[in-house]
Amino acid sequence: MMYGKLCTEFYDLDKRFADADEISFYQPCLDQADVILEPMCGSGRLLIPLLQQGYSIHGVDNSVSMLESCKQRARARGLDPVLYHDSIETMDLPCRYNVILIPLGSFQLLYPRSAAYQALSNFNRHLLEGGKLILDLFVPWDALSKRNENEFNTKEVLTPDGGKIVYQSHDQINIYDQNIYSEAVYKKIINDQIVADEYEQMHISWYYRYEMELMLEKFGFRHISFQEKIFRDENHMLFIAEK
Ligand SMILES: C[S@@+](CC[C@H](N)C(=O)[O-])C[C@H]1O[C@@H](n2cnc3c(N)ncnc32)[C@H](O)[C@@H]1O
Repeated sequence: MMYGKLCTEFYDLDKRFADADEISFYQPCLDQADVILEPMCGSGRLLIPLLQQGYSIHGVDNSVSMLESCKQRARARGLDPVLYHDSIETMDLPCRYNVILIPLGSFQLLYPRSAAYQALSNFNRHLLEGGKLILDLFVPWDALSKRNENEFNTKEVLTPDGGKIVYQSHDQINIYDQNIYSEAVYKKIINDQIVADEYEQMHISWYYRYEMELMLEKFGFRHISFQEKIFRDENHMLFIAEK
């Protein structure tokens, strides 16, 4: 299970909304006239600020909780976004888009590789002729440099009801399959009592530059450009590919 109720509550308190810096990071690739699709839009961290800036952007996600939060957070700002509950590998949406944008490595949640291939093929189908796919990806250089097969992480956020949510994960890296398998638990604690918990498993894959370029070509993209960018001390690989 991924992105359930507790995970969504944690995510929204931990990440909130994309700020002006992040918007300016993607803005050079966007045109105000574009109709944009954000696959894996989640709770609208980026989608809502882009709508507020006047962009026409639809979202699709397979988590009911994340979409519910997106609707609520949008409604609180007087917005009513077009959102679809679907998996990006199999979605068949009624619109075709000028731009498909996936920020901050979300594409890397697709697992196994066949899911990533299906998604790329489906993105191509959902783009207008000449439309652009924008993928922001990363290689987990830190995890690779530690060469440590097992890593334990913990993080907590305070909740408005006076409690906290504690997140604990155990990550295992597989450098040959190029993925990190993560098992995590979210625990909501109020007055020292666990009032809710939720388990999560996910894979985070990574792709190297030329591998990704070949994959994009294989699924019908051309004029593929690559930029390496540093944003908030992190390395981003920005791929822009045309249908
Ligand atoms: C890290 S969150 C990112 C949300 C948002 N793009 C952001 O920048 O905050 C990843 C999202 O991908 C969604 N997701 C994961 N696998 C998916 C799939 N196969 N199809 C559709 N959505 C998926 C999850 O439900 C989650 O909301």
